[in-house]
Amino acid sequence: MWKQRLAAYVYPFQHPAWGLAHVRRVLEMSLWLAEEEKLPVDQEALVAAAYLHDMGSFKPFRVKGQHHGHRSAEIAEQLLTKVGFPCEKAGLVKQIINGHMYYSDPEQGNEARVFHDADVLDCLGVIGIARWLSIVGLDDLTPDLPSAIRLIERFSQELPERVQTETAQKKAATRVKEMEDFLANLSEESENLQLL
Ligand SMILES: [Fe+2]
Ligand SMILES: [Fe+2]
Repeated sequence: MWKQRLAAYVYPFQHPAWGLAHVRRVLEMSLWLAEEEKLPVDQEALVAAAYLHDMGSFKPFRVKGQHHGHRSAEIAEQLLTKVGFPCEKAGLVKQIINGHMYYSDPEQGNEARVFHDADVLDCLGVIGIARWLSIVGLDDLTPDLPSAIRLIERFSQELPERVQTETAQKKAATRVKEMEDFLANLSEESENLQLL
């Protein structure tokens, strides 16, 4: 029952880049990474973390100056007991959420490692490109198209070294190639990105 309650709570927070589709992709990627790496994980904790890990990015939860992951962990603490999530696993969910951002070093723990890598992978490849382009004009990160393209280029260079598992490193390499191809083609078709 807690899953339905949590899903119902999160459902209104629609977002092209951090919404429910992102939640599902990150969850599925986390489980796939755990399987490939032969890491035992608590699936319930991963489900709860997937639903809640970006809630701190949304109004009315967002707090200026606070990392959204840390804010999301605070929200999770309050919400999980309300929806009837097994309280003995709440600490694990918070640990996963606190370490999910690409610039974080996830705390030790299989769940935090695979979740962190899954969230980083969702910033890469064609899915990453689609997400960054979907928030042009909607987020401080991407006020216009050229800034979104610069972000895509920067992430293609900086994010792969952030992933920790070998399986995610291989997947990241494939996705970086997709981004490099995109950027090369875009550059060719826009006079070196001048005509965007
Ligand atoms: Fe996040
Ligand atoms: Fe995320």
